[in-house]
Amino acid sequence: MKILKLNVRNIKKIKAVDITPQTNFITIGGNNEQGKSSILDSIVYALNGKNAIPEKPIRDGEKEATILVETEDYIIVREFNKTAEGFKTNLKIIQKGEKIVTSPQGELDKFTNKIYDLYNFVKDKEVRYETFLKLAEIDMMKMKDTIRLIEEQRRYIGRDLTQQKAIFSKMSEPETNLPDKEQSNSELVIKLNSFKNIIETENRVKQQISNNENQITEYKLMIQDLESKIRKLEDANNNAQKISFDNVDTKSVENEMVKLDELNEKIRYRNKYSAIENVIQDLHEKYESYTFQRDNYIKEIKEKFNNVMEGLEVDEKDNVKINGIEFEELSQAQQIKVAIEVTCKLNPELKVAIIREGSLIDKVNLEYLKEMADKHNIQIWIEKVGDAEIIIEEGQIKKEDL
Ligand SMILES: Nc1ncnc2c1ncn2[C@@H]1O[C@H](COP(=O)(O)OP(=O)(O)OP(=O)(O)O)[C@@H](O)[C@H]1O
Ligand SMILES: [Mg+2]
Repeated sequence: MKILKLNVRNIKKIKAVDITPQTNFITIGGNNEQGKSSILDSIVYALNGKNAIPEKPIRDGEKEATILVETEDYIIVREFNKTAEGFKTNLKIIQKGEKIVTSPQGELDKFTNKIYDLYNFVKDKEVRYETFLKLAEIDMMKMKDTIRLIEEQRRYIGRDLTQQKAIFSKMSEPETNLPDKEQSNSELVIKLNSFKNIIETENRVKQQISNNENQITEYKLMIQDLESKIRKLEDANNNAQKISFDNVDTKSVENEMVKLDELNEKIRYRNKYSAIENVIQDLHEKYESYTFQRDNYIKEIKEKFNNVMEGLEVDEKDNVKINGIEFEELSQAQQIKVAIEVTCKLNPELKVAIIREGSLIDKVNLEYLKEMADKHNIQIWIEKVGDAEIIIEEGQIKKEDL
């Protein structure tokens, strides 16, 4: 949808202006404060709805104002009437060849997006950023929060992983061919205890023998009578001496126990070693899965931006880049090209855009803009101080060179 005819009466600075564009590029010129912006504003008031209209749209001293926009399919009329409180506005839409549309603003919203101020996009970083997010249908805050969360979780795992790796790196490799479980030493304890009992008994008996020998000597010296007793005691000793004792070897058992302890120590060590090895493997897998998740998110965002425009990306600092170059670093012609592509995407139906800062664009780029307007078949209404196709003076057309 393009504007075929624009009639403005009593809007802001405008007294009466009728424009029938002949090309896609309509330049409105003249001195300052003559009503150039008022024309662009009129297009915006007619098409963008009530929210776009300021407190005093009607020209001072007038009671009513009208904006008529004719497109290929519609005649759109917005009327304003002065009231005690300010003004009232009324929108009428006639579908060509048919009747009046019953819900005019709804009809307008259906086939248009908002009129877009192209230069706003070029000069305002925030507008640009918001526009691209809107087009890409990206909730950047949410995406960033999600990535931050994933990275935080990954950081915890990474810390664990580093700790375990540090412990592991100081460990030597355990012996191989060890039994699975630690070995029990209870049998050896029982054996050792029984051996100790035997030795105790043996010692007791030896003590007894020596006591007896002492007594014998004593008795021999003292009393002959006691010889019989001595003999008896000798007999007793003789008998006692006949008792034979097994030769026991505690050393070997103790050695066995030491060996068993050593073995068990090794097994415990081997088990600890493989436990840490497993923990590291586990942590590593988790860490990798977080990395994968994070990378997928970033890829998804990249694809969404790329779908909006080839080569478009938004970096971590929210800078809009085209083919790796920050938007601000592009030439004005390149910036204009991007802005026009964006406008076409935003308003696929409404082929109308405005530029208020035409005075800041040099001749070469104005020509380029014109070319781009034709290439994308979009109508650009541009305001600039000085020479133009339409010159406005005191709210009226002074000269028209269409
Ligand atoms: N409701 C109104 N009635 C009468 N004059 C108004 C009204 N609203 C704004 N103006 C006046 O219109 C003039 C500005 O008009 P406009 O912005 O269209 O001019 P311009 O040609 O775009 O100027 P510039 O070159 O500075 O951009 C100002 O003098 C302003 O005071
Ligand atoms: Mg202006």
